[in-house]
Amino acid sequence: MAERTILVTGGAGFIGANFVHALVELRPDWRIVNLDALTYAGNLENLTEVEGNPNYTFVHGDITSTDDVSKAFDACGDDAPVSVVHFAAESHVDRSIHWPLPSVQTNVIGTQVLLDEFRRRSAQRFLHVSTDEVYGALGEEGMFTEETPLAPNSPYSSSKAGSDLLVRAAVHTHDVDAVITRCSNNYGPYQFPEKLIPLMIANASEDKPLPVYGDGLYVRDWIYVRDHCEAILRVLEAGRKGEAYNVGGNNEYPNIEIVRRILSILGKPESLITYVKDRPGHDRRYAIDASKIRSELGWEPRFDFGTALPLTIEWYQTHSVWLQRVRSGEYRDYYARQYGS
Ligand code: NAD
Ligand code: DAU
Repeated sequence: MAERTILVTGGAGFIGANFVHALVELRPDWRIVNLDALTYAGNLENLTEVEGNPNYTFVHGDITSTDDVSKAFDACGDDAPVSVVHFAAESHVDRSIHWPLPSVQTNVIGTQVLLDEFRRRSAQRFLHVSTDEVYGALGEEGMFTEETPLAPNSPYSSSKAGSDLLVRAAVHTHDVDAVITRCSNNYGPYQFPEKLIPLMIANASEDKPLPVYGDGLYVRDWIYVRDHCEAILRVLEAGRKGEAYNVGGNNEYPNIEIVRRILSILGKPESLITYVKDRPGHDRRYAIDASKIRSELGWEPRFDFGTALPLTIEWYQTHSVWLQRVRSGEYRDYYARQYGS
């Protein structure tokens, strides 16, 4: 009998898959049910190593569908308390700028559908995985704390802020045991190569141009995905009900420096850098003050950028087949082959 069941949403995506791998390793007695719609960002090839694990179940379904969400709760069984760790989202800012509706549907409506079913089932704890982008943009000074007012600027971050507020409302109105994490930019294995770091690694490896938006001086606060996953587990187990926790690596770099480092590690020329039209409404800088999670829950990032960036580059090099199948779209056939529809 499992000690605890975790319903992970979006577990076939980048951070969700890393979280599933971390749970299998760190909490081998827990049952994991992964509810994922397998959008373009969902890739079951991120999870081949856990497929045969008797404690792991995949449910193909959409968080905006009450039937699918109910099916996923059914798959959790009733012999152990069920907690939800909610990753599923339309996560890419550029896509949300061009096609905002999917972000609103999944991030806002999907979160409410999950919260409703969570309450109906009297489940244990709801952990909502949010983002530092809900706080908006910073100038050269300052950091986001949990007290920073929400001031999102893109359809993506606005829809995430909307979902944060729905979680807050569930706690306040219905006494739901929910917690929120707000993390900065992640990097590491299994990230879809539309995001800065894997895109630059993939393009540089093929001697293709590296598209840098605007002046390249936009600043992000980078954290290795495994550190984020361990922070989520810590908040799930020990966070205070109704609280939000910022998660960050205290690791700010302008984009152009990231791109130069990748080129240097790969031994590729800087002539591949191509400045392109800026992202509309581009947030200038993010920086996370993570002192609350450090002092209250004792969480610290374990990986520093100097070692984890080369590790990440090496991962994409040794997983060139994974990368090539994602870039070509072949990864989308995996579900049909594995599950027969
Ligand atoms: P991702 O885009 O790599 O993965 C998203 C996953 O959600 C995919 O597997 C996709 O199939 C699934 N999904 C999308 N819509 C769905 C739906 N309607 N129903 C069921 N499944 C659906 O995203 P990611 O980068 O892994 O981000 C995961 C979460 O973490 C998101 O909530 C994001 O807002 C948050 N976050 C991401 C970062 C980052 O740097 N990537 C930082 C902070 C917070
Ligand atoms: O801060 C957390 C957020 O980080 C998450 O909530 C989002 O889900 C995640 O996608 C990420 O958002 P960003 O917009 O910061 O990530 P992205 O990788 O798209 O871009 C990082 C920076 O690099 C940003 O300033 C835009 C720039 N960029 C990005 C791409 C894809 C480029 O200059 N060129 C590019 O081709």
